[in-house]
Amino acid sequence: MTKSNLKTSSKTVFKLAAPKLAIVILAAGRGTRMKSKLSKVMHHIAGRPMLAHLIETAQTLSPERIIVVTALDMDDVVACAAPNMTAVQEQALGTGSAVAASLEALNDFDGNVLILLGDMPLISADTLAALIQTKETHENSLSVLGVDLDPTPAFGRLIAQGNILQRIVEDSDCTDAEKAVTLCNTGAFCTNAKDLQKWVPQIGNNNAQSEYYFTDIPTIAANDGAKTYIHKAKDTDEVRGVNSRADLAALEQILQTQLRRKAMDNGATLIDPKSVTFSFDTQTGQDVVIEPNVFFGTGVILGDNVHIKACSHLEGAHVRDDAVIGPFARLRPGTDIGSGSKIGNFVEIKNARLHEGVKAGHLAYIGDAEIGAHTNYSCGAITANYDGFKKQKTIIGENVMVGSNVNLVAPVNIADGAYIAAGSTITKDVEADALAINRGKTRIFDGWAAENRQKNKK
Ligand code: UD1
Ligand code: CA
Repeated sequence: MTKSNLKTSSKTVFKLAAPKLAIVILAAGRGTRMKSKLSKVMHHIAGRPMLAHLIETAQTLSPERIIVVTALDMDDVVACAAPNMTAVQEQALGTGSAVAASLEALNDFDGNVLILLGDMPLISADTLAALIQTKETHENSLSVLGVDLDPTPAFGRLIAQGNILQRIVEDSDCTDAEKAVTLCNTGAFCTNAKDLQKWVPQIGNNNAQSEYYFTDIPTIAANDGAKTYIHKAKDTDEVRGVNSRADLAALEQILQTQLRRKAMDNGATLIDPKSVTFSFDTQTGQDVVIEPNVFFGTGVILGDNVHIKACSHLEGAHVRDDAVIGPFARLRPGTDIGSGSKIGNFVEIKNARLHEGVKAGHLAYIGDAEIGAHTNYSCGAITANYDGFKKQKTIIGENVMVGSNVNLVAPVNIADGAYIAAGSTITKDVEADALAINRGKTRIFDGWAAENRQKNKK
């Protein structure tokens, strides 16, 4: 019997090199319907700007360059786009003029250009690859990403015959018959760079909004003998745009559903998935349990077997294996919780490293600190870490007992095995295995309370 072999042919296969790709992201619109001082594409979903989501997806297609079109005063957009190029659209005269602003940056480019709207951040790389493929399969063509939406939002309509587009009509320019068309323009296009350079200058502004519509391109292309092919998006969620705060909230929920699913697929139990909010970068280990009403800001990593109890708020925190957090705990940036540690209700921790098996069960504050393994940090203990000018550090060793209502006035060091008596305010370093106590002596006056009651009786 001959063994089967995966290598079926010894012939060398020559693959034609795929044309180069440039991606243009339109992000210069004011986003007036957002009623915001912030540029529309800078509004966050799952903890980062819409534009950052789109750039990350764009990068997975390995483009030769990404050009983000911004307006003159959008420094935040430029910073978010970096290190990618930006091109400035001096006046917001429509998507056609925005693409025109990118042409100079494409002067030396030969290949395909993918044009994306900055307010459609959930588009997937697979859909974009299929859009490019649609253009590539037909000679002398471009492609547009369409989607069937019923009821139709205020989208441009694709007037088509089969999968060949005839023209795009913007919602405000539609006749009643055109309004009834449910095949919509998502705004994503793929075209050849040289064609783009030729066609874009021909866009006019003779329409209801007196804007330069990029959606006029298919008609201009048709006059030049090129056909526009439609690739239909299968998933309507990924092509939704953001024009208003309500749209932003809708996209947030779409992404949250995906992120919850991802956490569960990675082995986390979510008791009430809908009440848990993740960030785009939340990492969850195996056998993690997340109770209801938990919020994850950016930069959270949960190890295996971590249990996050209800109503906890975490950001910039690393929680190592087997730790238990909450209910009602707050972990702020720079927190590192050692394995098997237990952080209970109303405990706030910031910029602090807790080694393994630390217990801080109730009502405590730990800021700018390091706490050694198996130390007990009791109810009401705090680090007084700010002297009004700068933050100071508290260093606590292993197996220390920090009693209830202790004030640790930083900078201060508590060595291994020390015992800090309840109610003490500690302003000096404490040696290993020492007892530190700093509080008034208890004085007892026999019968005082009864006499006091008698005296005040009416
Ligand atoms: C656009 C399309 C519409 C499509 C819809 C899908 C046009 C004319 N219309 O309409 O067919 O159904 O998207 O969501 O293309 N922008 C600029 N400069 C400008 C204007 C816009 O950079 O001068 C950017 C915006 O920042 C935004 C994107 O282009 O990211 C889309 O602009 P927007 O005004 O939201 O277009 P829609 O009215 O949604
Ligand atoms: Ca839009």
